[in-house]
Amino acid sequence: MLKSGVFFALVVSLSVTAQYTATYLPSNAPVHSEEGQSGTNQCGTGSNQTSECQNAYVNSVQDFCIWAPPEPGPGSEIGDTEQIEVAWCMQSGYGTRLIPDGTIKGAHVVVTPDYIQVTGVGNLTNLNIPQANDGGGELDPHGATGEGNPIGGLVFSSAFGQLEQIHEWTNFVSDSEFCFRACKPSATAPKMCQHIYDVMGCTWNMPGNYDEGVFENCVGDSAEPMGVYGSSTFYQGEPSTPAAHPIPSSSKCTTYSTISNGMGLAGGATSAPSASSATSGHSASITVGTSSITKDTISITVGDPPLPRSLKHRAAPSNVVSSVIILR
Ligand SMILES: *[C@@H]1O[C@H](CO)[C@@H](O)[C@H](O)[C@H]1NC(C)=O
Ligand SMILES: *[C@@H]1O[C@H](CO)[C@@H](O)[C@H](O)[C@H]1NC(C)=O
Repeated sequence: MLKSGVFFALVVSLSVTAQYTATYLPSNAPVHSEEGQSGTNQCGTGSNQTSECQNAYVNSVQDFCIWAPPEPGPGSEIGDTEQIEVAWCMQSGYGTRLIPDGTIKGAHVVVTPDYIQVTGVGNLTNLNIPQANDGGGELDPHGATGEGNPIGGLVFSSAFGQLEQIHEWTNFVSDSEFCFRACKPSATAPKMCQHIYDVMGCTWNMPGNYDEGVFENCVGDSAEPMGVYGSSTFYQGEPSTPAAHPIPSSSKCTTYSTISNGMGLAGGATSAPSASSATSGHSASITVGTSSITKDTISITVGDPPLPRSLKHRAAPSNVVSSVIILR
């Protein structure tokens, strides 16, 4: 009797620790975290528009990624390429592709007690998603084989403290809409990042703000777990589909006029950052004034009577703002 009791306890503890095969950081991820992986988890730094990196980040409205196809073309619908999607990110430094400036038309980040979520709209044909009747698709770390879609895709976030791997996440993406929820590692994560409603789309799975023209970081309440209505659980394909859960309340929003990383549509640097661009958590909006941009200087003059001010900036070669001098 005693022996079998000990054996039982051992099996239970093994099955708990074996829930996730491994936990990585970008710095110690292997070349491939799963068999049959098309891309890589060893991505280096910087960025590259032909990168095969399969590490995605969800940190803030300035710093998130979307899974999307590696190649353009009519055969690149998410449903047909889900195993091989690569990471397209707002920020350089992760070794991924960059989401070209102007692609995202509105994005809303909310951090709740259970997850960080980004919802929004854009022209995601810039990320190789075919236009037309593709209603989009869903990516998650499970998939038919348990290896995830994309196979070997890893998600990281620092929304809950130190940068960490997020084991439960779900990302819907179509040619015009996206939503990505990354759940805080905890016992609630599997149900708050439920992935079985893969034809129900963004607004049913992740009720939230999808408005165009707004870019914001907010905190908020967690939504009800998708598909769960009190004591009953809906399963996809049942004859009647319940309404989406209500949009949870959010607050403390910081809004930005746009998000940008300097990557143009054709894969080159954008010609000039606009005077109203906002990155790295700072927002600037010029309503009166002029700006001029030369090869190595950005000059913004604000008509701010009685003291006209100008901002002069020596642009670093890589489009990174290295210093700003305020002249009066
Ligand atoms: C970009 O990534 C591809 C695929 O990983 C690689 O073959 C290529 O050398 C990289 N280019 C640069 C400039 O790093
Ligand atoms: C999306 O962008 C492509 C070019 O990048 C353009 O041809 C297309 O018209 C745009 N679609 C929408 C709906 O704006």
